[in-house]
Amino acid sequence: MTRTTAPAAPRQEDQHLHGQTVVVIGGSSGIGLETARQARSLGAEVVLTGRDPARLERAATELQPLTTAAFDATDTARLTAFFADLPAPIDHVMLTAGSPYYVPITELDFARAHRELDEHLWLPLHLARTIIGKVRPGGAMLMVSGTAARRPALGLTLPAALTAALSALTANLALELAPVRVNLIAAGFVDTPLSARLLGDDLDDRRAQLSAALPIRRVVGPADVAALALHLMTNTALTGAVYDVDGGQQLIGT
Ligand SMILES: NC(=O)c1ccc[n+]([C@@H]2O[C@H](COP(=O)([O-])OP(=O)(O)OC[C@H]3O[C@@H](n4cnc5c(N)ncnc54)[C@H](OP(=O)(O)O)[C@@H]3O)[C@@H](O)[C@H]2O)c1
Repeated sequence: MTRTTAPAAPRQEDQHLHGQTVVVIGGSSGIGLETARQARSLGAEVVLTGRDPARLERAATELQPLTTAAFDATDTARLTAFFADLPAPIDHVMLTAGSPYYVPITELDFARAHRELDEHLWLPLHLARTIIGKVRPGGAMLMVSGTAARRPALGLTLPAALTAALSALTANLALELAPVRVNLIAAGFVDTPLSARLLGDDLDDRRAQLSAALPIRRVVGPADVAALALHLMTNTALTGAVYDVDGGQQLIGT
């Protein structure tokens, strides 16, 4: 009698994103780039955008995306045209474009503040409407916000308002876009090129301080946030919620 061995059960993590398309708006650096990298390693095709064509090209050389597009995502006409040109269905869309603006109200530059609203309020809204009918049922829209501005502090007025707005947006969009799922990642310090730009010469000190003080005894990196993003794409029970990834930073208030 010939003995046959049952084929090994496919490992879920190898199968999850096979044949799926992940679009990352802001995918040429930091959290977005690392999410695209992890999605590729799980079998997904990726589509990357960012403003700087050279940065995007470097990411494309590594990840071999289906396509890339260099444009400012707050340009809503460009955003709409970009999605109109993408073949449907898309499985997941992640928004990582943007940067924070921490400043006391006395020094607030209103032009720059408007730009913040464009990036962190109007862009998510436009994106949500643009992807209706493009993302398949059960697919995910993911956004990234922060935990730092949850507690009032000098210089956090604008980020605090936008942090609160994005949580509210997430819950409501989860109803409006259903059965597409909508979730928000709230990060503490993440060791990305953005953090390096914001902190400049203070970066190493901040890394050392957090490594000593955080309950996880290391800083959070883009791979940690990307792993959460991949989970939010593949766990179809999750929608309308905010997921913190901060290594316990809120617990120690630093
Ligand atoms: N790093 C942190 O500690 C941290 C913590 C909490 C929340 N966040 C948020 O997480 C998101 C990603 O942060 P990150 O640290 O990964 O930043 P990052 O390294 O600067 O990456 C941001 C990506 O978005 C692109 N981008 C930025 N503005 C854009 C725009 N207007 N249109 C199109 N693409 C744009 C960038 O490329 P181009 O510059 O070439 O456009 C880049 O690909 C940001 O919204 C940030 O505020 C970060």
